[in-house]
Amino acid sequence: MDYSAFRDGERVGWSKRAELYGDATARATLQTIPKLLDHARLFPGAKVLDAGCGPGFVAANAKLLGAVAEGIDFSEGMVEQAKNQFPDINFSVADVENLPAQDETFDAVLSNIVLFHVTDPEKAMSEARRVLKPNGRFVFSQWLGPDRSECYRLLFDVLGRHADMSRADPAPNAYILSDEVNVFEMMKRVGFTDIKSEIVENILHAPGPSFFKFFMKFGVRVPLILERQEQDVQNTIQKEIDELTAPYLSDGVFKLPMPSVVFSGRAV
Ligand SMILES: C[S@@+](CC[C@H](N)C(=O)[O-])C[C@H]1O[C@@H](n2cnc3c(N)ncnc32)[C@H](O)[C@@H]1O
Repeated sequence: MDYSAFRDGERVGWSKRAELYGDATARATLQTIPKLLDHARLFPGAKVLDAGCGPGFVAANAKLLGAVAEGIDFSEGMVEQAKNQFPDINFSVADVENLPAQDETFDAVLSNIVLFHVTDPEKAMSEARRVLKPNGRFVFSQWLGPDRSECYRLLFDVLGRHADMSRADPAPNAYILSDEVNVFEMMKRVGFTDIKSEIVENILHAPGPSFFKFFMKFGVRVPLILERQEQDVQNTIQKEIDELTAPYLSDGVFKLPMPSVVFSGRAV
């Protein structure tokens, strides 16, 4: 299957959202960073790669703990934003499926909500394995799917009823990585051991008045589907999503459960 159109949509979509990210997507993604760092077992001077760094929050937190962190992202806008926010850290444009690093360079590779967006997650895992020193740790996080996440259940219920999903570019099933059995097998296949997982009960704090409008800034995958629908279908979807999310609004902020899972493994 050719996923190149999906990949381009993701890259361009994240670049467009780079400036807004700190007040949009970060309203859920920041909450997984402590658990990511916990699984990484960093030490002073540890060499860390923030793979799919976005605006650089993971690298910056690792640096605060004494690590020597750097970051890569395939979206130029994100890399520019990361450089502006954290000028003391080295950030560059690159793909997690083809890392620009020698074998056995890093003590930890950290990827916060990134594999959800890549075309070949197993390739990204195998690249992380390649650039890790023996016993180095790969830690990544992933959204849980509609079966466990109130936020995604609500969105996909509405999309399932109204959207013509065949209009979206072909894309891999993002929730394959929400399944522990699948992920453990993939991680084992590419050379990890001591594989662990832990759920983080993220709560998305989305400013009102419209949850739909907020979500169009929050992510890329769902907006890519929505933008392809006829205007009247988009209007219906917006109306239903706003009605269904109304009970979650208090003091001007929607608080929606959006759990994630953190996976970690040690390079053998
Ligand atoms: C949800 S954001 C997470 C950003 C960051 N890790 C954080 O914790 O804030 C997803 C990021 O993954 C990046 N990304 C997606 N696919 C990628 C790929 N194949 N190579 C590098 N970066 C990628 C996007 O550009 C975006 O910055």
